Amino acid sequence: MKTTTKIITLLVTAMFVMVLLVGNSVLAQQAKAKAWPVGDKDKAMKAPAKADVNAGKELWAKHCKSCHGSKGLGDGPKAGTLKTNPGDFSVAAFQGSTDGELFFRTSKGRDEMPAYEKKIPEANDRWALVAFMRTLKK
Ligand code: HEC
Repeated sequence: MKTTTKIITLLVTAMFVMVLLVGNSVLAQQAKAKAWPVGDKDKAMKAPAKADVNAGKELWAKHCKSCHGSKGLGDGPKAGTLKTNPGDFSVAAFQGSTDGELFFRTSKGRDEMPAYEKKIPEANDRWALVAFMRTLKK
């Protein structure tokens, strides 16, 4: 009888733990990023000079890859820890944004997306990042 009680207790505990784990993973699901509107003036902004894609690539590896992944698929090592999915930069939904929008979002940030205006203070460097993000198109 004692063994039976032990087995039942164990089974009940195991079930409880499973329910907790399943519930948690549902709650931990990442939110899809919401629309990120940019004002008309910023939207129309263009790089003042031809941007340096290679410089952009280096900056990407240093500042962005950890979340966005090397190809911008949103699969960097830190991506899983984020509440909001960083998105897939290879698709039309992303590439359809204007250069100005990408520049604005990179500069100003939002929630978990850091603002790079101060971390990457040269505007030309942020334009280089925009040029690099264009190369991520599939
Ligand atoms: C700590 C993780 C993290 C890092 C580092 C990071 N991002 Fe993001 N990024 C995000 C997340 C999360 C979003 C979605 C934010 C939202 O929509 O609220 C995002 C969104 C963006 C967007 C807008 C996407 C769209 O659909 O227009 C751009 C552009 C962007 N990031 C560029 C960059 C660049 C460039 C860098 C490096 C200089 C960078 N990010 C570094 C997490 C990160």
